[in-house]
Amino acid sequence: MSMCTVWLLCFARLVTATPDLTKYVNPFIGTEGQGNPGTAINGGNIFPGAAMPFGVVKFGVDTTAFDWTNVDADAGYTPDGYVTGLSMLHESGTGGAPTYGFVHQMPLSTIEGVNVLDNFTYMQERTSLDVANVGYYRTELANGIIAELSATDHAGIVQYSYPKNAERYILVDVSHMLPSSGEAQHSQFYSNGFLARSPDGTKYQGYGVYRGGFSSRPDGRVYFCAEFDNTPDQVQLFSGQYTDPYWPNSTEFHPPVFTKAESIIGNQQPQYGFAKRIGALFTFPSSVSTLKSRIGVSFISSDNACQHIEQELPTWDLQPVIAAAKEQWNKEVLSKVTTTDSNNNTLLEMLYSSLYKMHLMPSDRTGENPNWETEEPTYDDFYTLWDTFRCLNSYLVLTAPKRAAGIIRSLIDIWRYEFFMPDARSGNYNGRVQGGSNADNVLADAYVKGLSAPEYGINWTEGYAAMKTNAEKVPYNTFDAGDPTGSVKEGRGALPDWLSLGTVEYGLNDFALSQVAKDIAPQDYVKYFNRSAGWQRIWQHDLVSLNFTGFLAPLYANGTRDPTYSPLNCGVWCSWSDVTYEGLPWEYSWTVPYDMETLITFMGGPSTAETRLDAMFIPGIQSGGVGAGNGAGTTIFNPGNEPSFGTPFLYNYLGKKQWKSVMRSREVVNQYYSNGRDGIPGNSDAGALESWMVWNLVGLYPVVTQPVYLLLSPWFSDLSISVDGNKTLQITTSGLKDGPYVQNVTVNGKPWNKSWVTHEDLISGNGGRIHFVLGSSQMEWDVGDLPPSPGHLDLAIRN
Ligand SMILES: *[C@@H]1O[C@H](CO)[C@@H](O)[C@H](O)[C@H]1NC(C)=O
Ligand SMILES: *[C@@H]1O[C@H](CO)[C@@H](O)[C@H](O)[C@H]1NC(C)=O
Ligand SMILES: *[C@@H]1O[C@H](CO)[C@@H](O)[C@H](O)[C@H]1NC(C)=O
Ligand SMILES: *[C@@H]1O[C@H](CO)[C@@H](O)[C@H](O)[C@H]1NC(C)=O
Ligand SMILES: *[C@@H]1O[C@H](CO)[C@@H](O)[C@H](O)[C@H]1NC(C)=O
Ligand SMILES: *[C@@H]1O[C@H](CO)[C@@H](O)[C@H](O)[C@H]1NC(C)=O
Ligand SMILES: *[C@@H]1O[C@H](CO)[C@@H](O)[C@H](O)[C@H]1NC(C)=O
Ligand SMILES: *[C@@H]1O[C@H](CO)[C@@H](O)[C@H](O)[C@H]1NC(C)=O
Ligand SMILES: *[C@@H]1O[C@H](CO)[C@@H](O)[C@H](O)[C@H]1NC(C)=O
Ligand SMILES: *[C@@H]1O[C@H](CO)[C@@H](O)[C@H](O)[C@H]1NC(C)=O
Repeated sequence: MSMCTVWLLCFARLVTATPDLTKYVNPFIGTEGQGNPGTAINGGNIFPGAAMPFGVVKFGVDTTAFDWTNVDADAGYTPDGYVTGLSMLHESGTGGAPTYGFVHQMPLSTIEGVNVLDNFTYMQERTSLDVANVGYYRTELANGIIAELSATDHAGIVQYSYPKNAERYILVDVSHMLPSSGEAQHSQFYSNGFLARSPDGTKYQGYGVYRGGFSSRPDGRVYFCAEFDNTPDQVQLFSGQYTDPYWPNSTEFHPPVFTKAESIIGNQQPQYGFAKRIGALFTFPSSVSTLKSRIGVSFISSDNACQHIEQELPTWDLQPVIAAAKEQWNKEVLSKVTTTDSNNNTLLEMLYSSLYKMHLMPSDRTGENPNWETEEPTYDDFYTLWDTFRCLNSYLVLTAPKRAAGIIRSLIDIWRYEFFMPDARSGNYNGRVQGGSNADNVLADAYVKGLSAPEYGINWTEGYAAMKTNAEKVPYNTFDAGDPTGSVKEGRGALPDWLSLGTVEYGLNDFALSQVAKDIAPQDYVKYFNRSAGWQRIWQHDLVSLNFTGFLAPLYANGTRDPTYSPLNCGVWCSWSDVTYEGLPWEYSWTVPYDMETLITFMGGPSTAETRLDAMFIPGIQSGGVGAGNGAGTTIFNPGNEPSFGTPFLYNYLGKKQWKSVMRSREVVNQYYSNGRDGIPGNSDAGALESWMVWNLVGLYPVVTQPVYLLLSPWFSDLSISVDGNKTLQITTSGLKDGPYVQNVTVNGKPWNKSWVTHEDLISGNGGRIHFVLGSSQMEWDVGDLPPSPGHLDLAIRN
């Protein structure tokens, strides 16, 4: 009987056979820096361990680096350095100071010379390259122990294989967390902890209290529950002196105190911030050759953490857990984009690895909100919206609108209880704002693309009120060392200056408000629409740089500008207290997507704007530091940081120049992106860089806060993209092998002469269809209407 004689079985096989696209995911892409192989210098800070899409648990190794110069192990992992343990909570692709690295275990084969309070005495080198694929991670330590692990949403499973003649220990250090090598003022601290074990030592549970990190959060608890599949011979709980952050070099030796008791606490006062460090040392019999442990995490209680194990890990076998993770990634993320064009494995790896990294954050903590009871979804680890609003959140709106809506509902819920939506948030705490209240952009982008429909469950009355809080309420000053002039926690710290003096980020934020106000609060529409043009207050029409006239420039309160100011210089660090944040004024001078018409006029018209765009891509012109992302090339356009994201595609606004956007798109992706470990030009920024690349590969780029996408040129002969919940957007090409330039386009079967499409074009009917005829000629095909400038308003200020 052939396999398919039983029709029903064959049918079942057909419908369940989701192709396994995880084979194209390499979790190590973005863990090393360009020009710095084998190190994390200028790397993407990608988390390569095991995780589910938006999973709470990101289970992986924590390491030191052999050289900490310009390195912080933001995701726990560095390619070089020693392993100090495995831990359950991580971020992916972030900069700033490391956050998390909690809920620790470290397998040891001896305790000779080990001080359980000092990771330098037990850390291990790796004897082969770590192995990672979706849902699986493996590391082989110098002590001969191999650790293999997998993760579910709130739990993880790990298998330790011990060498034959070694002793068998598991060390648990509740005070383990990711230290910061570079940003001491935002370092994390262990504050307190509690651990209790079962009488036979097969289980333990408890919590750690931690503070600090990128958001400078106050003390917060992380609960854990863990169990072993074997019974230890011996369990010793221990405590030791708090590590004083103010005297890190103290040479006084305080040996740990061991106890046979069944529980240990850092300090009886639950929120006491200088409690003793605590942990446990488990000793297993030599008959145990492989030891397994299941570990659950919760922000509510250790009982919840135990329940997560029960519900998500009903097995001691790693294989089904790995398979379930792969299945979920295929279903929820990877199969959303498919192609029959399988000629180029490199491109497929770039595509699917990027999609993977775009869905690691934020963390879906629904049901795990420690601060208030809510029926709404709860997300944490917005790290940061400043990075992701430009094109990552737009990807979710198009391909996963329910997920995008859940994220927005959680932002609004944070406003409901904490008065401000975050621009960045981790550890259940808002902070730090980098410029703009960019949740406004995320909400407006979703609103104008149909997430106003009741089925998405977003209360837009409250959503708009949350946006209005950003636009109207001055957040209290946090007197942050990096910027003592206003709040860096949330909201718009420079709001009072905005109305009289202008900025550029708040312009887009106010445009975002106007787009939602149009329906929700029509009386506010003109106000925010007018305010969105405020960038013109700092447009200096007489300012000259590299042959071009007219730039943004910060002004003193008396309305004058610094005579030494140059738009090619963003200050010493290009950080909070500097001229511009992580980008040159040259770059920021392009960031008015809602009124390109006025901007191009200010720049002297389309022809000058074109030469000026060309100047963005001349190598060698960028001379000074540009803050984060520095090291990625020498053009003013900075592929490694977000302010430059939209710039290569602005040729679409000039008419008959779309071919130049295609040229830039190809140039930048070819030069800076690959499937190598150094395959992204800097910090991933929670997947923001990867999302930028994916849009390039697809041949579209979203104009955030407008239901508009610019047309580029796809890299695949065909793509099917799941959009709007249950429809398929079909992107097909002919002539791809002849060249990347658009010769002709049809959209939904109609001839097309515009370099842009609307959201409706992509989702109409059963989904949109775009067919590109490609070739080598730089055709001036885009003769139709220019992409819209819906915020067009010239305030007629001529500085
Ligand atoms: C390892 O120990 C050093 C020195 O005490 C400490 O600074 C660091 O935070 C520890 N690392 C981890 C991951 O606990
Ligand atoms: C600790 O020691 C390091 C290395 O010797 C030194 O650079 C640093 O300034 C010292 N820190 C303090 C607070 O003494
Ligand atoms: C596959 O794509 C990569 C990335 O664009 C490119 O560098 C490589 O030349 C391509 N390989 C083939 C065989 O076309
Ligand atoms: C939306 O929020 C407003 C203000 O809190 C409330 O009055 C209204 O009932 C909510 N709408 C829905 C559909 O829940
Ligand atoms: C908006 O701007 C227009 C033109 O610049 C002006 O006439 C109008 O009074 C402004 N309205 C508000 C509400 O600011
Ligand atoms: C500026 O103009 C000079 C003289 O025409 C030219 O040589 C130079 O390339 C221009 N620089 C840029 C950045 O366009
Ligand atoms: C404006 O303020 C700046 C900075 O305080 C000062 O250097 C400058 O002299 C002032 N200019 C005028 C015209 O008052
Ligand atoms: C597709 O989604 C739309 C909007 O959510 C819904 O109205 C429609 O019933 C769905 N169709 C199918 C076939 O699921
Ligand atoms: C583009 O294709 C359309 C429809 O197939 C056709 O009518 C039109 O002439 C073509 N335009 C060019 C410039 O080839
Ligand atoms: C662009 O296409 C539209 C719709 O087919 C047509 O009305 C218009 O005349 C075209 N524009 C040019 C400049 O050919």
